[in-house]
Amino acid sequence: MSGTSITIGILTGGGDCPGLNAVIRAVTRRALAAGAKVVGIEDGFLGLIEGRTRALTAADVSGILAQGGTILGASNRANPARFARGTNPDGSPRFTDETDRAVETARRAGLDAIVAVGGDGTMEVSSAFLRRAKGLRIVGVPKTIDNDILGTDVTFGFTTAVTTATEALDRVRTTAASHHRTMVVEVMGRYAGWIALHAGVAGGAEVILVPEIPYDPAIIARVVHARANDGKRHTIVCVAEGARPRGGAATVARVDPTSPDPTRLGGIGRVLADQIELATNVESRSIVLGHVQRGGPPVPFDRILGTRLGVHAVELLLRGADARMAAIRGAAVTDVDLSVAASGQRLIGADDELVRAARLTGVCFGD
Ligand code: F6P
Repeated sequence: MSGTSITIGILTGGGDCPGLNAVIRAVTRRALAAGAKVVGIEDGFLGLIEGRTRALTAADVSGILAQGGTILGASNRANPARFARGTNPDGSPRFTDETDRAVETARRAGLDAIVAVGGDGTMEVSSAFLRRAKGLRIVGVPKTIDNDILGTDVTFGFTTAVTTATEALDRVRTTAASHHRTMVVEVMGRYAGWIALHAGVAGGAEVILVPEIPYDPAIIARVVHARANDGKRHTIVCVAEGARPRGGAATVARVDPTSPDPTRLGGIGRVLADQIELATNVESRSIVLGHVQRGGPPVPFDRILGTRLGVHAVELLLRGADARMAAIRGAAVTDVDLSVAASGQRLIGADDELVRAARLTGVCFGD
């Protein structure tokens, strides 16, 4: 069914991200303006499995544009086709297929279509769900602070995270300079270095370490030494949580086999600070910015981006589209096949223009 008589469900999957509420508001307002109904699904696909939905009105989305988080709740764990349910007798995690329950919720709520706002995991789950949920259409809206979704040039939440990380780097520099220390600032980003690269350049970090460019600790120590010899007695290192040494692996904080995203990265900042101090004798400290980068109000750019993508997602559905993902190409809003996002990750390329500019302005990437 297409046109104004449709009922559109909306869910926010995966972790939260600044700008989610801008998308929910835009989807709701655009759909209501077209005469469509909007149903909010709570906690991502978990709400669909457990039958938790509620009608969204204009009043429900009033005043949420500047709010961080998501008024619909988020859940990292819910994949209807592989739902974690306790453990098997041998202690291994038990998974069940809850797709039929999720389809039933959609049917009871009268949904014709779903706007799934999420990362590559949500797009993958949505694609699989779509194949089983006959007659239900899905349009994705890409979301992540990591900026690593294929098919779109930028995701909302990224600019807010970069802004927060840059402000942290600015603050860290004054204390590093006062104490003649090396400060290692660990930022998020999973296996992509976009946050480290952009915040590192904006914050003037002398060393930027990203997963896409494996580093050599000896080269970082040389930078710290060279700066000290040059009378600059402090150094700022901005490291992505997924960064790894040449021939080595990323530092893992924890593994949870029941999670669709079992590996939690983290800890590289501390490892590096210890290595740098040992190699240079310069006092070195580390901080982990963590979820500070994901919380709080979205910057204006992300509110605008969320609004544009949300409106486009509804307009796709009103035109009868299915299995598409709203996206940004250059300055324009567009859309791609939903499966594109699930086909890999958008990583920093070998010929990245910002990496080149950073190198030419003195940044060391540890290689
Ligand atoms: O994908 C967004 C992100 O914030 C990553 O940068 C980070 O590795 C991960 O999520 C943390 O996830 P969680 O909130 O589940 O610990």
